[in-house]
Amino acid sequence: MDDVVFARTVHVLGVVIWIGGVSMVTWVLLPLLKQMQSTADATLFFTRFRRRFAAQARITTLLVGVSGFYMVHAINAWQRFLQWQYWWMHAMVIIWLLFSIMLFILEPRTRHRADDSATQRILSSETFDKIQRKHMILLVLSLLTIVGAVAGSHGWLIAGN
Ligand code: HEM
Repeated sequence: MDDVVFARTVHVLGVVIWIGGVSMVTWVLLPLLKQMQSTADATLFFTRFRRRFAAQARITTLLVGVSGFYMVHAINAWQRFLQWQYWWMHAMVIIWLLFSIMLFILEPRTRHRADDSATQRILSSETFDKIQRKHMILLVLSLLTIVGAVAGSHGWLIAGN
């Protein structure tokens, strides 16, 4: 059972660093970037920030995924995916998949495109609005998932199962 405790510790640490970062980007960084006078400066800062954050988030996403699937296997929880009371198990996997696609497929692609073009596209204030809206949706879904996972894994299930 020690291995499950270890996996759970790694899992929660990964979630804290990763989703904590998403919340900081959504509620602190993006609103500030939108207010900056120079959109060129805001774009440059955002591009550098995103690169560093994506690198860190790739590591935490991997840790959360490996520890998560390890726990499913170790506590033999596969059948939960067939029970709607365990909606938070589905939610965890869906959030993880969404972020993995963004971090491992979409982000490297846009990065290579930006490196290739001689002049980088300056992001307008409307684009920052759009980016913030997307982050907000992902953040709210992640927070709901965390609430469901903590409550559910400690026995608070819908319909008292
Ligand atoms: C591949 C994706 C994932 C898998 C397979 C997975 C699997 C698991 C498993 C098996 C547990 C333990 C449940 C129990 O003890 O009954 C757990 C707990 C938890 N997971 Fe995930 N998870 C994944 C992704 C995520 C993500 C993306 C988040 C956050 C958005 C998350 C947040 C949590 C939290 C907060 C707990 C509760 C820890 C506790 O209170 O003890 N997980 N996860």
